[in-house]
Amino acid sequence: MEVKINERKIKNSLEIIFVINKNLQHTFNRDKALLKKVGFKGEQDEIFFDPRNDRLYVGASSLNHSDLRSAAAVAARSALKKEHYSSLSLATYTRKKADMTPMQGVLEGLLLGSYNFIVYKSKHKKSSIKKIYVSQKDYSKNAVAKKELQKVIEEASILAEAVNKTRDIVNTPPDDCYPKILADIAKDVALKCGLECKILEHNEIKKEKMGALLAVARASRHDPRVIHLAHKPKNAKKKVILVGKGLTYDSGGLSLKPSDFMTTMKSDKAGGSAIIGIMQAISKLNLPLEVHGFVGAVENMIGGDAYKPDDVLISKSGKTIEVKNTDAEGRLVLADVLTYAQQEVKADYIFDLATLTGACVVALGEYTSGIIGFGKKPKKLLEKASLDSGELSAELPSNRHLAKLLKSEIADICNISSSRYGGAITAGLFLSNFIEEKNRNKWCHIDIAGPAFVEHAWAENPHGASGAGVRLIVSLLKNLTR
Ligand code: BES
Ligand code: ZN
Ligand code: ZN
Repeated sequence: MEVKINERKIKNSLEIIFVINKNLQHTFNRDKALLKKVGFKGEQDEIFFDPRNDRLYVGASSLNHSDLRSAAAVAARSALKKEHYSSLSLATYTRKKADMTPMQGVLEGLLLGSYNFIVYKSKHKKSSIKKIYVSQKDYSKNAVAKKELQKVIEEASILAEAVNKTRDIVNTPPDDCYPKILADIAKDVALKCGLECKILEHNEIKKEKMGALLAVARASRHDPRVIHLAHKPKNAKKKVILVGKGLTYDSGGLSLKPSDFMTTMKSDKAGGSAIIGIMQAISKLNLPLEVHGFVGAVENMIGGDAYKPDDVLISKSGKTIEVKNTDAEGRLVLADVLTYAQQEVKADYIFDLATLTGACVVALGEYTSGIIGFGKKPKKLLEKASLDSGELSAELPSNRHLAKLLKSEIADICNISSSRYGGAITAGLFLSNFIEEKNRNKWCHIDIAGPAFVEHAWAENPHGASGAGVRLIVSLLKNLTR
């Protein structure tokens, strides 16, 4: 969907009007009597369609970008179902001193809300709405500079495109997106965006001695890949490593998942897919940072060659791992990719994104990512990025008692905790064993198991993949350049 600045009236356009904080008296609301008559109150996400005047009213609790993002997405979802229109039009929404963040919410909401995954629908009418027209007329009566407005439009478009790309990858069924395909997608993005791209195939992964990753991959008919994308501008202010879990399918392995838990496990590649989306966005935004994105692309299957509970694996770091559950495979893949990344790049910050544990979803619910790390700086950065992007996150506090639960009698560490409780934290602590001592305070793990794939629409997200992590990390990286 293309967004353009335009001041004239457009034919066949549906006007979207945000009603802020139930203020029906605002001059933007030209149909006050009608709104009253139909009982429209302007609650958050409440909508009213007026076909006579081609207007769609939607409520938002405030000018906060999160409220507007959600309201705009609800409006977009409703608008796209209407057949008559060829575009949407709207005013500008800013806050005091022409602060553009409300508009960031509005545009992201419209662009993210109009996403749908129709690749596998044999009969599907595409929406006739192709454009969004924004006028400089401002809700808060600020004088909005065209240049500023153009900038928000461009940034929101780049970001939404990256999030929607990530959603497409995650939503793709496992038989159509296995490790080689994920690597091909990364190559394609690299080519289009001018990123460096290195793909490690099976033999090279063996040469790198990634014994933990290779064990997880063994029973699959699809060979694994390790993907390395790099954005290296000349004026880089900082160096950042990003690592993503790219399990193109997680059956659980021999510790097989029950059927009800296996469905949706195509989404176990959400962390890796987000890395690809993030790399696309930052290259298009031209961020003055050196960013390296690594993805461990693997399929966790069963078969005669499957790795087993009781196996002891030798990881790339040299540390030995006793396998007690083959469904705790993400941490095995990440252990080796984290080791590889740290050997390849000396960075200021390291973040990993992974749909790592069901326990994280139990702890925080479906909408919030869990953060585990030791350094104050990366945690602060994530906290700020969370507020700026509208992606919810919360820190999960670790302690030495939990760390002890990973002890193994026969190897250096176990791949699962000996306790049934605190599983999201012990998974993060497992990863921390593969972070070099000098990098300890530079690293944070982000468990996106909750928000990455939700089986209903919520706020700006559709049913299925949300693209979790993309907006969060792009915000963080943007803040690092300031
Ligand atoms: N991919 C799953 C985690 C997951 C669960 C992601 C639900 C999204 C939604 C992960 O590989 C896994 O199976 N973890 C196990 C760990 C356990 C065996 C210690 C889990 O969470 O049950
Ligand atoms: Zn698993
Ligand atoms: Zn998994």
